[in-house]
Amino acid sequence: MMVLGLESSCDETAAAVVTGAGEILSNVVLSQTEAHAPFGGVVPEIAARAHVTHMDRLVDQAMKRADVRYDDLSAVAATAGPGLIGGVLVGLMTAKAIAAVTEIPLIGVNHLEGHALTARLTDKVAFPYLLLLVSGGHSQLLVVEGVGAYRRLGTTIDDAVGEAFDKTAKMLDLGFPGGPAVEKAAEKGNPDRFDLPRPLKGREGCNFSFSGLKTAVRRTREKLGASATAEDIADLAASFQKAAVESLMDRVSHALDLFVDEYPAGTSLVVAGGVAANQYLKGQLENLVALRGVRLIVPPRHLCTDNGAMIAWAGIERLRLGLTDPLDLAARARWPLDPTAAPAPFAGYKA
Ligand code: KG4
Ligand code: ZN
Repeated sequence: MMVLGLESSCDETAAAVVTGAGEILSNVVLSQTEAHAPFGGVVPEIAARAHVTHMDRLVDQAMKRADVRYDDLSAVAATAGPGLIGGVLVGLMTAKAIAAVTEIPLIGVNHLEGHALTARLTDKVAFPYLLLLVSGGHSQLLVVEGVGAYRRLGTTIDDAVGEAFDKTAKMLDLGFPGGPAVEKAAEKGNPDRFDLPRPLKGREGCNFSFSGLKTAVRRTREKLGASATAEDIADLAASFQKAAVESLMDRVSHALDLFVDEYPAGTSLVVAGGVAANQYLKGQLENLVALRGVRLIVPPRHLCTDNGAMIAWAGIERLRLGLTDPLDLAARARWPLDPTAAPAPFAGYKA
């Protein structure tokens, strides 16, 4: 089995070829970071145009690096949502064209399912497991019960955590993407200097919220004024990071209680998404799982952030179950993994 996977739902254009045995034959990712940097965040129209410009070339590169022909492919998979619709359409239409011409099955993959199943590609994790998905586009806690079977325990009711890192970086003039910049600045800062809120900490459930924390960072930055020193900025970055991670830990802790209680067969907490690269978060998660007898799995960074291999792998998992899609499959801006979960109206596609 061999599947070509395409990803274009946010600001990475990506294509990869993966085998049924879990071998990544090629995995090319073009990040548009530089194109969006002047704006301090992803601009949907710029992203969509960049996907149009680069997708065909990246598909060609992925096929050549894998050294396979279109005839060798068992299927072509593409992200069909959720995400920025202009971008999603580019990858999905490209996959449809390939499927139509080569007469292989099309598989429309939920981007979140791509993240959710990556730990099975990298670590062969068995179902069920608990997933913490933390990226620029999403903050979710899900029980992965099986392919296509997800139970959402929590989601953001406003911003995603990566977005909060990006916006904090913007307010502190640290550059884009903000996560790594905030983490670096925080290394030299005092995390206890500013008293920032820990959103939803101590409250019931597993939902997230980051917009109040973001506002508190803005107010603190304004109070520091034009005379703010590098030390002030480092202290604020460190205080923000500590508050954001403490809020996350509280939510994960509730989810772990529920998971351990209701899924006795489950033994793993998997972390995915760009924020999983944060070393402070990772350290705190390690402490938390150690207390519950659960193991922590963080796939390698290049497979935690958006990429084509995760889409190809989700395609393989679906193909094994005979789950293919018709050529008139629609792209979806919003597409919750757990359709029974209550909508979070202010989170948009992030929920
Ligand atoms: O998964 P990803 O590459 O793209 C999507 O959003 O889907 O995640 C990117 C996000 C950005 O918001 C970025 O600031 C954040 O992940 N990020 C981090 C770190 N590295 C990346 N956040 C905190 N600490 C980091 N080291
Ligand atoms: Zn993603």
